[in-house]
Amino acid sequence: MSGNPIAPPWRVKMVEPIRMISRSRREQLLEEAGYNVFALAAEDVYIDLLTDSGTSAMSDYQWAGLLQGDESYAGSKNYYNLQQTVQQLLGFEYIVPTHQGRGAENILFQHLIEPGQYVVGNMHFDTTKAHIEVRKGKAVDLVADVTHDSQAHHPFKGNFDLEALDAFLADKGPEQVAFVLVTVTCNSAGGQPVSMANIRSVQEIARGHNVPVYMDAARFAENAWFIQQREEGYSDKSIPDIVREMFSYVEGCTMSAKKDALVNIGGFVALRDKDLYREVSRLAVVYEGFPTYGGLAGRDMEAMARGLKEIVDPDYLAYRIGQVAYLGKKLRDAGIPIVEPVGGHAVFVDGQKFLPHIPKEQFPAQALCIELYREAGVRGVEVGGVLAGRDPETGENIYPRLDLLRLTIPRRVYTNEHMDVVAQGLIAIGERRDQVRGVAFVDEPPILRHFTARFRLV
Ligand SMILES: Cc1ncc(COP(=O)(O)O)c(C=O)c1O
Repeated sequence: MSGNPIAPPWRVKMVEPIRMISRSRREQLLEEAGYNVFALAAEDVYIDLLTDSGTSAMSDYQWAGLLQGDESYAGSKNYYNLQQTVQQLLGFEYIVPTHQGRGAENILFQHLIEPGQYVVGNMHFDTTKAHIEVRKGKAVDLVADVTHDSQAHHPFKGNFDLEALDAFLADKGPEQVAFVLVTVTCNSAGGQPVSMANIRSVQEIARGHNVPVYMDAARFAENAWFIQQREEGYSDKSIPDIVREMFSYVEGCTMSAKKDALVNIGGFVALRDKDLYREVSRLAVVYEGFPTYGGLAGRDMEAMARGLKEIVDPDYLAYRIGQVAYLGKKLRDAGIPIVEPVGGHAVFVDGQKFLPHIPKEQFPAQALCIELYREAGVRGVEVGGVLAGRDPETGENIYPRLDLLRLTIPRRVYTNEHMDVVAQGLIAIGERRDQVRGVAFVDEPPILRHFTARFRLV
């Protein structure tokens, strides 16, 4: 990132007021929420960095598109517009809209995975893994070793370990491996990008073993931006050209449009093969809706088509990724331990390093998450020991190598001044870190405990 500040490539036409409530009220709400920020009302949050999914601000062009919703049951004009956009931008002939990303995973994976088969990814996202497992498949992560080192600076920490991939496919063969799934950017690795060379090699290796490759495309444009900025030979290529090349190596994709299509709800499956499209669109009828609307209103498809056109604007991407980097730099400069390098959609603070006096059994990143709301009215999310849950066999807590607080930045929503408030909040906590207390469960749900658990301070 150069030293020059980047101003947003838009101006504000409509505002949504947010308010900071008093510290004593925040204190009281935390107690009522059982020290779980998921239980807070969004209105009581000043700056909400819970997720970048479905939280984007739409443009006037997208809002105008909502008024042109064609709500015909079959063959609405918005569907054809979306289809044409996907054909031009991603290069896939066929598209099935879905209500969101996991809807796309459901209908594609049901068709592709036989019970017992493996699906090999760089690092599968949670719902992706769940849909593989619902099909009685086995999700395998083969991300490169460097990804696990939170301080290692590598330009493409979402890359596959190509040797491991080759060995795995050689060992199992095409009967046992349903497909390879490239997730761009790699959310579970912190929004880290995958290089074009890596995507190309994945395809070559998989083809050598007769295994198809698909893409989990939720943040494809952010990935393309990193390729343009960091990969040799791509600095002169346009983002649309890079996007086209990325998708040229795969048979199809699942997309959560709640990220890089700049909409609040939506998704799709896009495919090259007509026969596969036929099968998947039949499943869409059962689970999503008729194949030309797939659980979405016509107006939603229009907003999605328009968002897909906007997301590949290099000025937008420079500001977007620049804003995430801006927050990362503020924290780094203040000596706050973050995962490096900063990825595309979030900054991750290392809870264990930030609060070394709190043992892992008392969930330091969860403690930091609570403290950030108390201090600054900011809602982040814990991605650490609480989220990891328990080993189903031993019942013991799983303590992942990294216990993190994720600060996920919605698209086109906050200014860098909001980022300053977030950074200032963490800096203030750092100055009195010894007073921050760990947490213990009061009520621990057996599955997906992080959403509804209640805690007490210890
Ligand atoms: C990489 C990735 N894949 C799939 C999904 C699932 O998409 P959705 O939340 O739209 O169902 C997400 C959501 O966060 C994601 O980040």
